[in-house]
Amino acid sequence: MLGIARIEEVRTEIDRLSLASSTAQELMRKMVKLLHDRMLKYNWVGFYMLEAGAKPPMLVLGAFEGAVTPHVRIPLNQGICGAAASSGQTVIVDDVSKDPRYLACSLETKSEIVVPIFASGVVVGELDIDSHFPAAFTSEHRDLVQHCAVLVGKKLETSSR
Ligand code: SME
Repeated sequence: MLGIARIEEVRTEIDRLSLASSTAQELMRKMVKLLHDRMLKYNWVGFYMLEAGAKPPMLVLGAFEGAVTPHVRIPLNQGICGAAASSGQTVIVDDVSKDPRYLACSLETKSEIVVPIFASGVVVGELDIDSHFPAAFTSEHRDLVQHCAVLVGKKLETSSR
């Protein structure tokens, strides 16, 4: 119960943040910090954005909170990140050690969620969250993270990046 109350609180704070942010960059910077600070199991929170005009398409690390990652550029055919961006679907991995697609960022990571961000109907990036806890991302977490991705997509549509 406590966990769900926390998710509701954080969702309200995220909504306030979105209203108060004038650019998508500002929203993304503040969003990763809020999610990392307030959600106990969100141990690494970051955005990967599709590089404009890159051939082959490339995800590039943007705003993030947590340990430095070796994966600064990820092609669409690699990783959980590539799978989410190329399919346009949320990917949740409860045990990263069992997923051959997984690109390791930290040895402590046990589970991961990656949610694509759409702007004007196309995938433009994604929100990636790693947890030191197995199966951290239940359906309530999926809803929260998808909500965050929708807000960023809308901000990208209505403001300069
Ligand atoms: N684990 C991701 C790579 C990014 S790091 O988690 C920050 C993947 O498998 O695509």
